[in-house]
Amino acid sequence: MFMRLLFLFLVLFAATSFTTSAQTLTSPNGKLKLTFSLDAVGGPQYDLQYAGRPLLLPGKLGFTVKSGTEQLEHGFSNPRYAYTTEDSHWQPVWGEERLIRNHYNELLVSLDNNSRKVNIRFRLFDDGLGFRYEFPKQDNLYCFVIGEELTEFNLASDAKTFWIPGDYDTNEYPYMTSKVSAIDTLMKRATVEITAQHPIGSPSVQTPLMLKTDNGLYVNIHEAALVDYPAMQLNVHASKHAFSAHLVPDALGGKGDITTPATSPWRTVIVAEDARNILASRIILNLNEPSKIEDTSWIKPTKYIGVWWEMFVGRGSWNYTNDYHVKLEATDYAKVQPNTTHAARTEHVKHYIDFAAKHGFDQVLVEGWNIGWENWINPMREYVFDFVTPYPDFDVKELQRYAHDKGVRLMMHHETGAAATNYEHHIDTAFRFMKQYGYNAVKTGYVGWIKPKGEHHDSQWMVNHYIRVAKKAAQYGIMVNSHEAVRPTGLSRTYPNWLAQESSRGTEFEAMGGLAPEHSTILPFTRLMGGPMDYTPGILRTIFSYYDTNNQGQARTTLTKQLAYYVTMYSPLQMAADLPENYEHFADAFQFIKDVAVDWDTTHYLEAEPGDYLTIARKTKGKEEWFVGGITDEHSRTATVDFSFLPKGRKYIATVYEDAKDADWKTNPMAYRIRTKKVGHKEIWKQKLAPGGGFAIHITPDL
Ligand code: NOJ
Ligand code: CA
Repeated sequence: MFMRLLFLFLVLFAATSFTTSAQTLTSPNGKLKLTFSLDAVGGPQYDLQYAGRPLLLPGKLGFTVKSGTEQLEHGFSNPRYAYTTEDSHWQPVWGEERLIRNHYNELLVSLDNNSRKVNIRFRLFDDGLGFRYEFPKQDNLYCFVIGEELTEFNLASDAKTFWIPGDYDTNEYPYMTSKVSAIDTLMKRATVEITAQHPIGSPSVQTPLMLKTDNGLYVNIHEAALVDYPAMQLNVHASKHAFSAHLVPDALGGKGDITTPATSPWRTVIVAEDARNILASRIILNLNEPSKIEDTSWIKPTKYIGVWWEMFVGRGSWNYTNDYHVKLEATDYAKVQPNTTHAARTEHVKHYIDFAAKHGFDQVLVEGWNIGWENWINPMREYVFDFVTPYPDFDVKELQRYAHDKGVRLMMHHETGAAATNYEHHIDTAFRFMKQYGYNAVKTGYVGWIKPKGEHHDSQWMVNHYIRVAKKAAQYGIMVNSHEAVRPTGLSRTYPNWLAQESSRGTEFEAMGGLAPEHSTILPFTRLMGGPMDYTPGILRTIFSYYDTNNQGQARTTLTKQLAYYVTMYSPLQMAADLPENYEHFADAFQFIKDVAVDWDTTHYLEAEPGDYLTIARKTKGKEEWFVGGITDEHSRTATVDFSFLPKGRKYIATVYEDAKDADWKTNPMAYRIRTKKVGHKEIWKQKLAPGGGFAIHITPDL
């Protein structure tokens, strides 16, 4: 009898501790419901429902461990649960809005397997889920190497998705649009333009991943606060419309060195019935730590021009000389034949400074100013740049004086050639050099294969490198704009001097084959979900045969779509990328770029559908002034602009920059019209956009 009772007890115990320990959490508005449970072998799992319907089916949580025998996959029992709620507001240093609400319900699950502790913290907001792993300090789990993170995202139905292939080193891909169930076939198809530099064996995609489920829900999967951990890519299990975490390996194949106490980044699943609310979600920022920089008064949203586009259209070069065979030392430059198209020459840069001063730009980026560009793409590039030695024709002292007298700053460029170790070696000297010459912003770049060898742009060592650079820059009062870095995860909240990143295909690709007209309607739902992009818009001269009759290239947009980008591509750092002579030529359209703000009180997402169109209105920070931007893909469309975001009872003047009637990105891209019209709170306009077109509106009070 006793034995039977004991058996019954054990069965019941096993049942309660392993299979029936489901615990739920609901979002503040009750629409999202998360369920946590342990499966039959004590493996943690979760599922997510939206409005009573399954959105994510049960998916695994946990880890395999590469070092040692500690497995963090199953065998967990007796989970403990703690609930909390948060509802507060905070002010970002800069952003799409002045005040951000942080409102969620939290469930902290404490797990134990063979006295190894792992906690999983779930936060459910009205617009989605965030969860992360926490490894408390403990005797039985001190240092370990992750084999793989097991997190799964198992969609309950198939979905349309906007994806780029998995790659450990670059996110500069065109977006593909397909059903999740078709990703693997598409990835194999030779006709598809996919050339993953570091292809992941199994079909995989990168985040932020944008999805629209067959039930019409918009879902975005990404991560927040990627610190001291590799980036997460996603393996695709196409037939099951499911994804599983695939962390970027380090040089030894490990997927994260963990020393307890530690936390993983947050995994985010943003959910909305309306695509506009994906863009309006602040979950990723809310899950990042507040600013670690106390005095942020020196951090300023910035509009800049640059000695840059001329290199892409073939007029200028980064190199000082073409006369070289081996690596040139500083003293060699006096002996070589200078290249007449070297762009960073003092007199030439002065024209840019004059132009910036005349038109109210804050900064002038100058690329190709420092020695080393002759050799920068070579396997020994770790020795190429020292970041402090100008070419003989770049007079840093004189340019500094000249810019300063005109109230303009030069923007520094540190192309590292991906030799991150070399950059770290020189970084203090480089930043001191910047301070000495009055620079307060740097564009960094990581083109090429990472040094240390075997590391990747998205592996843990590099993730930490970018943060080290941002932190060090803050110590020197320097703002950072990183190119080719791991895609952002909201860390600009914590390090607001890290103004922007590239980390996706930007305008440079208009000169390298062209960006599909839909690209810019996808980016806000993908790359920009993690943070601002240095997209470098403003190419008004969209046809490149102007530079060279053999150049058949063109930006695949109309002229006014380029203006709209200043509103639709959110960033506190905006470049006017075209050449001064083109801005002089299109002076009336250029006025919009001069006027547009880079920091905002409020943002209104008026219309949005990923891959198709976007209309956004924003109010300038601290000013009675609004800007509206609308863009479309390759199809013409009529946007509906509802001006109810304007205060009631007052009239405003709208200056409208729009595609001419016969404009078309392919055949007639630079045809535009500018008109002014009174507008008020009650008005709703129909606004025509050409194929590949856009419009931009500047609204000021009617005085
Ligand atoms: C790629 C960057 O995206 C681009 O802006 C830069 O000019 C080149 N690398 C050279 O650093
Ligand atoms: Ca790039």
